This record gives sequence, structure tokens and C-alpha cells, in this order.
Amino acid sequence: MTQEIRKKIVAGNWKMNGRRAFAKELVAAIAAQPVSGCEQIVCTPYPYLSGVHDQLSGSALKLGAQNVSEQEDGAFTGEVSAEMLADCGCDYVLVGHSERRSLYGESDQVVADKFVRALDSGITPILCLGETLEERESGATEKVVARQLDAVVAATGIAAFARAVIAYEPVWAIGTGLTASPQQAQEVHAFIRQKLAKEDVQIAAGVSILYGGSVKADNAAALFAGDDIDGGLIGGASLDADSFLAICKATTK
Ligand code: 13P
Repeated sequence: MTQEIRKKIVAGNWKMNGRRAFAKELVAAIAAQPVSGCEQIVCTPYPYLSGVHDQLSGSALKLGAQNVSEQEDGAFTGEVSAEMLADCGCDYVLVGHSERRSLYGESDQVVADKFVRALDSGITPILCLGETLEERESGATEKVVARQLDAVVAATGIAAFARAVIAYEPVWAIGTGLTASPQQAQEVHAFIRQKLAKEDVQIAAGVSILYGGSVKADNAAALFAGDDIDGGLIGGASLDADSFLAICKATTK
């Protein structure tokens, strides 16, 4: 398998930003300029999913959520189930974003459960992995990423990764303006792929691994040049149609 058969993907994680009118305008601007050869995803806040889904009908742009409950339906006040996301037309969902892990205490096991729920509902999970600055500086990057990945592989088996996407987001690069260098990013992406390859070479070769953390229009092409970097998970720069589109185009260079 060569890299060409892996999907190039750019997902915009809007986080808790925007209002209905902003969402409508941003989605209209992005949908108006499809970038061929790149799967483009917008991960909007929950309240706007249905509206954006209606707006997207007939467009190639895909819809993602930013989180999902690890529970099925039931008495879980405030939670949103994977079945509900599927019902709202979601194609993708982020699981284990570092903000969920650090601010809301999501453990590796909870993240694995969310991953399973998404798959069971026919939604593609985008599994986020990444180390803190302290962990990187102490040389623990691979150990941390391996632990986060192992928890999910143990819960689902390797075959599930034929229907999943991985995003490597070093925590120290998120929203800080600091990016991993293309070489630092490529090293961790290669590590993730080699780790999966120990379980199944074909699945490892086929899974798209996105880089996230201060990706902008002007650094995207250099980051995406890495052999094991198949696109990006974009925060701040996804809130502007022009920069999001420029990042999408950088995957096809
Ligand atoms: P920034 O692109 O704003 O650094 O955010 C990255 C991120 O967390 C995407 O999920």
C-alpha cells in the first residue's frame, strides 16, 4: 500500500466558538469551494449540527461533532449519544481531544468507550492523541501516545481502525502558536503507524493520521509533506474560510 491511497483529510474543530449566523456563513463559504482530493470536515458545536447538516445537503463537505457520550441512551443529563449524532447527520466525531482529557477528566478508558460508541453508530471516530510539554521534555512522548492508543486498540481490536482516523495533537502546540516542527510531527506519526503495523500492516498503511496544533495556512504545506502526515485537525484557523481552504489545498500539493 502506498501513501496515495490514504485519504487526505482536513477537519476544522470550531471548539466553543461562533453563533448560528456565523456557522451558516462559514459553512456556505467553505462548501462553495470544494477542494478535490481532500475530505473536508467541519466539527461544529452541538446546537448547530442539524442546521449545518441541512445546509450541507448536496455538498461534499462532511459534518463532525466534537464529542460524544460514552453511554448509550438513558438517564445521562446533558449528554449526547452517538445515535443522536448519527440522527443529526454526523459523519465524524472527535474523541479524546486533549481539552476533553485535561479539562473534563476523560480517561483513556472513557475515550475508548466513546470510540466504540461512535463506530457502533456508523460514525467515524477521529481519535486524538498527544503529549503535554512536560511529557515531551521528559522524553515520554512515545510512551504517552502508545498508552493512549493501546487503550483503544485493546477495546476494539485493530480491525476497527479501518473505519477510524487518528489525530496527533501535541498539547503544547494547541492554541499556542507553537507547532511541532515537520520533523517532530513526522517522527510521532511514523511511530503511531509502526505501532499499528505490529498488529496489522494493511490497516496501518491505510489509516489517515492528521496533525493538529497551531496549523495555519502558512505552515500547513511543510507539515503535510511528511510521509505519514495525511492532513490536519485545525482549531483557530478553521474559523476563517480562506485560511481553512488554504490548509485544505495544502494537502494536495
Ligand atoms: P489550534 O489549531 O487552534 O492550535 O487548535 C488545534 C486543535 O486543538 C484542533 O483540535
